[in-house]
Amino acid sequence: MSLLAFGDARRHNGGMSETKLKRVTVASLLQKKPQGRKITVLTAYDYPTARIIDDAGIDIILVGDSVGQVELGYKSTISVTLEEMLHHVKAVRRGTQRALLLSDMPFLTYQIDETTALRNAGRLIQEGEADALKLEGGEAIAPIVRRLVEIGIPVVGHIGLQPQHAKLTGLSVQGRSDEAARQIVKDAKAIEEAGAFAIVLELVPRLLADEVTQSVSIPTIGIGSGPSCDGQVLVTADLIGLQLGGHAFRHVKRYADVASIIKGAVTAYREEVESAAFPTVENSFD
Ligand code: KIV
Repeated sequence: MSLLAFGDARRHNGGMSETKLKRVTVASLLQKKPQGRKITVLTAYDYPTARIIDDAGIDIILVGDSVGQVELGYKSTISVTLEEMLHHVKAVRRGTQRALLLSDMPFLTYQIDETTALRNAGRLIQEGEADALKLEGGEAIAPIVRRLVEIGIPVVGHIGLQPQHAKLTGLSVQGRSDEAARQIVKDAKAIEEAGAFAIVLELVPRLLADEVTQSVSIPTIGIGSGPSCDGQVLVTADLIGLQLGGHAFRHVKRYADVASIIKGAVTAYREEVESAAFPTVENSFD
C-alpha cells in the first residue's frame, strides 16, 4: 500500500470538520459579489491535487483545458478531447468534497451545433459529475449558454483572451483598442443575459476588467486582469512552480518552487539507491 492510500484511509475514517464540508454552490458563490467577498479558483487535473486544493478551502476547482499543455504536454488546448477531459474530471471529482467542480468544454465540443453541445455537456455533468461547465466565447455562443442553462446546467463564460482562438488572436492581452474593449463589454453582457452565473476574464487591461465587473451583476473571475475582478483564477502548476525551468508570466505569482523540491528528492533517492544508502534495515522486514 502506498502512503497515499494510507492517507486516504485516514481521511475517510477521520472525516473533515463540519464547516469545511459546507459545499460551495452556485448560490453561495453568487452571494459573494454583493458582499464584496472574493471568489478563489484554481485548476486541478488529478485526484491528489484536487484533494489538497479542496482541503485548502478554494471555492472552485477548475478542470481547465490547460490540462493539454500542463499535464499532457500538448502545444495548446486545441488538442484536448472530450474523452481526455472526462478522464481528468472524474479523477478530480473523486478528490473534491467541498469546492464547486467546474469543467471546461474543450474545443469543438460545443461549437458545431446545439445537439452536439448538449450531448457533450451532458456527458461532463452525468459521467464526470462536474457541477458546472465553462465555455469560451462571447455573444456568438450566448444561444448555447442559454440552452445549457435552460436544461439545468450552470455555466461560466470565458472572454478576453480565449486560448481556443489563439490561432487567430495570439496569446496576448486582449481589448486594447476601443472597439475591442467595447466588444468585450458586449460579450460579458450577452453571457450574463444568457444565464451564465460567472465570467472568466482572461488577460484584459485592468481598467477594462473594472468596467466589465461593474457592468454585470454576476461575478467576474480574473486571470491577468487586475485586482478589481470579483475573484481570481490561476493555473496551479504556475502558482506552485511545477514546470522545470518554466518562465513566470507577469500575471502569475509563484508561491513555491515545487519542481526544485521534486527534483531534489528524486536526485537524493537516485544517489542513495546507487550508493546502497537506501534501503536500510529500518526500511526492511524480518
Ligand atoms: O484552462 C484553463 O486552465 C483556464 C484558466 C486559465 C482560466 O481556462
